[in-house]
Amino acid sequence: MSDSRPILFFDSGVGGLSIVAPARTALPQARFVYAADSAGFPYGTKGEAEIAARVPALLGRLAERYQPRLIVIACNTASTIALPFVRAALAIPIVGTVPAIKPAAEGSVTRTIAVLGTAATVRQAYVDDLAAHFASDCRVIRHGSADLVTLAEAKLRGQTIPIAAVHSAIAPMLEAEGGHAIDTVVLACTHFPLLADELAAAIAQPVTFVDGGPGIARRITHLTQGQAFTRDQSDLAVFTAPVDPSLEHAFAAHGFTSLDRL
Ligand code: DGL
Repeated sequence: MSDSRPILFFDSGVGGLSIVAPARTALPQARFVYAADSAGFPYGTKGEAEIAARVPALLGRLAERYQPRLIVIACNTASTIALPFVRAALAIPIVGTVPAIKPAAEGSVTRTIAVLGTAATVRQAYVDDLAAHFASDCRVIRHGSADLVTLAEAKLRGQTIPIAAVHSAIAPMLEAEGGHAIDTVVLACTHFPLLADELAAAIAQPVTFVDGGPGIARRITHLTQGQAFTRDQSDLAVFTAPVDPSLEHAFAAHGFTSLDRL
């Protein structure tokens, strides 16, 4: 039996690569297509209506073109806003990326956790629900940062990121009421694990970072159990805006040697 249908990963930019990395380790036999909505980037400063319309339409186009066996929305902003619309529109399994509040609350000793995402993600009712279900006995400090998204994109374009810039981006989170007691930070934007070293260097207090990547790798493995994988084509990354050659290195390092415009 042969089946060359890929798994499709979708984000506004490079953030989904933090989800691709653990998925590759879990499923080395699978073919991946990565789609970045670079023409729509960034999502985190957009309104709900725009994302709820844009993401299902684009994923519909991508599903038609690449016939994936499964789609991973490797973006917290798109998932917390558009997941139900995408699931209603497409008849294939859709895995979303939502803030990893459950494991963060399970591991927190101080019972103070931070949810660090985009402004659009941290204001979602979806996050209220996760906090109410899994962290009701925790103080949950939310902080949205567009600067960290820009810094992660710059890092993957080969730039060195000043720790002071990362520090300024997260200072309001640490200075919020109770912020000194944060011992666990949920990286609730897929761009942020790409800055894990810089974030660790920018925070003086001891904190653990938690993100959705490992959980998504387990979920994809479960959903594709027993399926055949044929790798007769190389992995492809597609962009909705012209391809930026300075990203070639980062995408090649994640296994995407061919970059194209959608
Ligand atoms: N990577 C995306 C997320 O997980 C959003 C980044 C952006 O476009 O603002 O939320």
